[in-house]
Amino acid sequence: MTNIKAAITGVHGYVPDYVLTNAELETMVDTSDEWITTRTGIKERRILKGVEQGTSVIGVEACKGLLEKTGTDPMDIDLIICATITPDFPFPATANIVGEEIGAKNAWSFDMGAACSGFLYALSTAAQFIETGKYKKVIVIGADKMSSIINYEDRTTCIIFGDGGGAVLLEPTEENVGVVDSILKTDGTGVNFLGMPGGGSRVPATVESVQAKKHYAFQEGSTVFKFAVTNMADVSAEIMEKNNLKGEDIAWLVPHQANKRIIDATARRMEVSDDKVMMNIEKYGNTTAGTLPLCLWDYESQLKKGDNLILAAFGGGFTWGSLYLKWAYDPK
Ligand code: UT7
Repeated sequence: MTNIKAAITGVHGYVPDYVLTNAELETMVDTSDEWITTRTGIKERRILKGVEQGTSVIGVEACKGLLEKTGTDPMDIDLIICATITPDFPFPATANIVGEEIGAKNAWSFDMGAACSGFLYALSTAAQFIETGKYKKVIVIGADKMSSIINYEDRTTCIIFGDGGGAVLLEPTEENVGVVDSILKTDGTGVNFLGMPGGGSRVPATVESVQAKKHYAFQEGSTVFKFAVTNMADVSAEIMEKNNLKGEDIAWLVPHQANKRIIDATARRMEVSDDKVMMNIEKYGNTTAGTLPLCLWDYESQLKKGDNLILAAFGGGFTWGSLYLKWAYDPK
């Protein structure tokens, strides 16, 4: 083990311009602003419109802003990891497309599909590349165009999800900041409760699979809710205990934005007060791998060097986890 840690040295996000409000959803499915707000906390979400606009559009915009604000030459990027379950294509990887678009000619790149835990998994993976000492500049993207796999006639899913994402730059440091610890988990029984049946090798696209609506995300909401509430809170408490952290030591909880009630339950379990919980679900909904970097981007101006952050997520797979990091810079 080296004493090199991986520090986040910049963050940038991107959300498309189109705002899909609860009022507009009321005209599409049998729902109400009141139901959506009280059950989820969501008021609106963004949608990436236009022909042949994939998740790479979100990744490219986030990365361009990131390179600019950190004064980074794209030729110096060693590695790009893109967490997404809505890649532009089954292959090649969306990370490759983003790398090409931003001029990161010296980087190798790959995608990581861990649904709503994707950014957490990718950040933990990227940190280990930095900690070896071999890699100096790694970009981690979390982005999803969820509207590409949502059935806008299904009120149980279409009210939740939105499009967007963000990117962070990771660099080595020997200071007492950066990624300290992570706990990541998987439970394969989740395949029955949250996923997309079609489009993979088991059910390739056919006229019949399209007619049977197999290329849309489905979820058994209440089952997922129960798993999420318990596991996201448990794993957050576990990482605090492991690192001798109490509620008052935490500057910010950075939770996956799936449902305000799940976030509130996690914060209560950690004994973290509401004013220390990053929350933007009301304006973006659930952007899957995009939620955590979008939170960091929205709250960047309030973060101070040395702040203790706990990132936590739960999602399809099932996948879940928590990550403890010390923020590496003061507001610029
Ligand atoms: O990010 C990945 C992980 N995903 C999650 O963490 C999501 C976890 N699940 C949830 O957030 C919640 O389960 C939902 C928001 C999806 C649903 O909320 P719920 O409180 O669990 O509702 P429910 O599924 O138990 O449904 C309650 C009622 C049902 O009607 P009946 O059977 O009681 O008559 C549903 O048909 O609400 C009905 N319903 C709706 N009503 C109005 C379901 N969707 C809607 C809707 N508008 N959009």
